[in-house]
Amino acid sequence: MKSSCEGDRLSCPTGQLNLSPPVSRRLVLASGLALAACGREPALGQPIAEPPLKSLANFPIGTCVRAPELADPAYADLAARHFSQLTAEWEMKMEYVVQPDGSFRFDRADAIAAFARQHGMRLFGHALLWYANEPEGFLKLDETRQSFEGAVRNYVTAMVSRYRGLAAGWDVVNEPVMENGEGLRESLWSRKLGQTGQFKVAFEAAKAADPAAVLFINDYHLESRPPKLRTYMRLIEQLLKAGVPLGGIGCQTHSWSELPAGSITATLKALAGFGLPIHLSEMDVSTVQGGLLANRTEAERRQARLYAEAIEAFAALPERQQFAFTVWGMRDKDSWLKRENALDTPLLFDDLGRPKPAFAAVTNALRRS
Ligand code: XIL
Repeated sequence: MKSSCEGDRLSCPTGQLNLSPPVSRRLVLASGLALAACGREPALGQPIAEPPLKSLANFPIGTCVRAPELADPAYADLAARHFSQLTAEWEMKMEYVVQPDGSFRFDRADAIAAFARQHGMRLFGHALLWYANEPEGFLKLDETRQSFEGAVRNYVTAMVSRYRGLAAGWDVVNEPVMENGEGLRESLWSRKLGQTGQFKVAFEAAKAADPAAVLFINDYHLESRPPKLRTYMRLIEQLLKAGVPLGGIGCQTHSWSELPAGSITATLKALAGFGLPIHLSEMDVSTVQGGLLANRTEAERRQARLYAEAIEAFAALPERQQFAFTVWGMRDKDSWLKRENALDTPLLFDDLGRPKPAFAAVTNALRRS
């Protein structure tokens, strides 16, 4: 239903996409199995990578996607064949949605949502507040007309209510902890709403907009920086004590082939101690960070081992805590890490969409789990 305002903008909430009744996790997985069972033929020239990952997993398997790439049949095919949950890599972030005049654009987020619905997949909302996004629409807000807090509530309400019934959860605050773990990041959101206030405002608005969605905080390098993990866990305790409706814990798991074995397992176990759903939310394993490039075979062997460890550690969580296992992209050439180093090969499929040793390691780990 539309509010009384003239459109989608910071100054007022917006209507929601007209979606069918909520899609249950079982339905998503069953749909994925049905899709896999119907022998969906991959696009011409796309090698068949048997079996579909989602047919082997007892939990949602996700990937991030970009809307324009879904027009590529090979890309769309990999997504629909192997995954049961989609995260918008960047089109559901403020940097894309919020225009300089404070209006919102949902075209690409809606395209990803439509693809997910078409293929019986869940959507995961990423990310409502992020220190890295401080859009002009907020920076130049005329606070005599619209309070900053009101504008944040309107934005969160607009995003979360639009995908209600399709988005199983949201990263409500993304990457709140400082890189060195010595505290929480300063951002436009913490400066205007207060360190705790930013969480309270965003989580309460998201909860009101979709009471069924699981609401997450999300951060990275938790498995490789103990001080950062400790601060993240203290933050979780504080938020729960303050009654913030935190419903899940995200562990991005952007790692690299030299990450010591057992680090991911220990981190997931520590985070699972809160009893909340865990989203392993953005896994990739760089094969060039850490200097192993000289020996690509060894780097890809270690990469495969780390993906297998992550699957096994996630599958060992209590079922009620297995929210989803998400990789941050499908083919190496789709990875954001390629922009840092074109030689990086961090994902499960190579540039041509062919399964790599990491894919085989994931399927074997899923079969064992
Ligand atoms: C990255 C995307 O992959 C890039 O395409 C974009 O330019 C910047 O953001 N942690 C996150 C993600 O939570 O949103 C980031 O995604 C990667 C790090």
